[in-house]
Amino acid sequence: MMSSQILSDGELDREWWKEAVVYQIYPRSFSDGDGDGVGDLQGIIDRLDYVADLGVDVIWLNPVYDSPQEDNGYDISDYRTIYHEFGTMADWEALLEAVHDRDMRLVMDLVVNHTSDQHEWFQKSRQRDPAYEDYYIWREGDTDEDGEPVPPNNWESFFGGSAWEYDEVRGEYYLHLYDTSQPDLNWRNDAVRQDVFDTIEWWLEKGIDGFRMDVINLLSKVEGLPDGDPDSEWTGSEHFIDGPEMQSYLTALDEAVLSNYDVMTVGEMPQLTVESAREYAGTDGPLDMAFHFQHTKLDYDDGERWSVGDWSLPELKTIVDRWQDGLAADGWNTLYWENHDQPRSVSRYGDPENYRRESATLLGTFVLTLRGTPYIYQGQELGMTNADWETMDALRDVDAINHARELLERNGVDEYDDVREVVGYRTRDNARTPMQWDDSRNAGFTDGDPWIKVNPNYREINATAQRTDEESVYSYYRRLIQLRSDRDVLVYGDYTDLLPGHETVFAFTRSLSTDAGTERVLVVLHFDDGTETIDLPVEYADATLRECNYDRDDTDPEMVTLAPYEARVYELFD
Ligand code: GLC
Repeated sequence: MMSSQILSDGELDREWWKEAVVYQIYPRSFSDGDGDGVGDLQGIIDRLDYVADLGVDVIWLNPVYDSPQEDNGYDISDYRTIYHEFGTMADWEALLEAVHDRDMRLVMDLVVNHTSDQHEWFQKSRQRDPAYEDYYIWREGDTDEDGEPVPPNNWESFFGGSAWEYDEVRGEYYLHLYDTSQPDLNWRNDAVRQDVFDTIEWWLEKGIDGFRMDVINLLSKVEGLPDGDPDSEWTGSEHFIDGPEMQSYLTALDEAVLSNYDVMTVGEMPQLTVESAREYAGTDGPLDMAFHFQHTKLDYDDGERWSVGDWSLPELKTIVDRWQDGLAADGWNTLYWENHDQPRSVSRYGDPENYRRESATLLGTFVLTLRGTPYIYQGQELGMTNADWETMDALRDVDAINHARELLERNGVDEYDDVREVVGYRTRDNARTPMQWDDSRNAGFTDGDPWIKVNPNYREINATAQRTDEESVYSYYRRLIQLRSDRDVLVYGDYTDLLPGHETVFAFTRSLSTDAGTERVLVVLHFDDGTETIDLPVEYADATLRECNYDRDDTDPEMVTLAPYEARVYELFD
């Protein structure tokens, strides 16, 4: 297969964002600098050496803009002000400088599918201020056969219930694909697009290094807003995902603004396919990269998010092959297990009770050795796990709270205990428990009362303990990040799946031939708690084991057998 990475003169088509490892910081839960129980910018500055020591290149910061925090900052009330609990614009500028001083880059979150209902634009829009009247998607409702008012169509909110809310002030319904406090902007309005472009430029002028673009393929809604198929995964989504104007909106943004800066852009894109990824983020596309969600649904039962299902390695490999092969000649992958919306990977795809260290390092090897840009979420490098959500009061996530209520109603039960297993497993709060710094009170996250519960396992799982332990998940991540940045083959090399159908072993090679010669790497990942002997169609003889999450060297006679959750990275020599 033609590789996109070699230019006609035999040189590599290098891009800094292809070579980078991104570390995601969720400010509310990272580190509290002022003792009010909420993480903040000063807290991040205080811990920046930790992030730099891990060896990552880019920090992606979840939203820090002014916001009523109904959806933890994804409901923005002012794009150009910092949320007061996180600090001030001066703190943010100090953070940017501190990040750049450490040779890292800073990527900000861009949330422009919707604003908060507290945003001035919405306040004016609901008052029918002529300049803002058309800034959101307003419609009159219908009436049902009893003459009762009903929403304009059957679209659903991702967080549960109808995607329409009736506004008393204006006397109309507005569309909100997420929480009722997050009205969708009307991108058909030229003034909206201009205001958003100006905001983006304003931040770029402040010297940031890129954007992660929140639910960016939802901007364009089909004209007429027709009813959606009620049996689909998200009712209405065929009319608002990858809508007709998407390419033109993003191309205009790229041409007018983004292309004037050396920045990276990564779009978060629900229901993304390989084909549309190439359109959005191929060589000629407006963005650099996109996040798809296919592997995050493996543990859904029958496609239902609020369920706990079994997953299988062959299914995961099918997805990986589809994306690695699909973007081999054009486009660039994102590699991730975790973010602020996903439960902890070791609790989903590993074994947090018996093989936490082994399975966390195995999962780390996966994201750090495939082709694409790895995204590591805070605490993933420690192998942090899901927490127990014993009562509904402990939950903070608007999505989980809404769905817990919906599940209680749907299942005809009134005890949280009856839905606790699924809600506790799936809630985004699992990713949002405070970063576990040390074994002191509140895991060293805050001197105050934390806004969300601390996972009690911080006494065993914390950064301080792991940094001095060569065998820890942290040390393993650090070594592998270093290896990736030392080896072009791990960034640019072609991918070949060696055992596509194997039930428990994922083995692949990366290989890169340039004018400088050929480099080859073999990765073997054993996704199971048993042992396994495999026969690989490559010569091990001249292979050198570079990294392994067990204490082994090449002379080990047990080498033919893979231990539980064993991960190996070899260099191959011809
Ligand atoms: C994205 C964000 C998520 C947020 C939602 C609405 O999926 O990652 O946290 O709730 O968009 O903005």
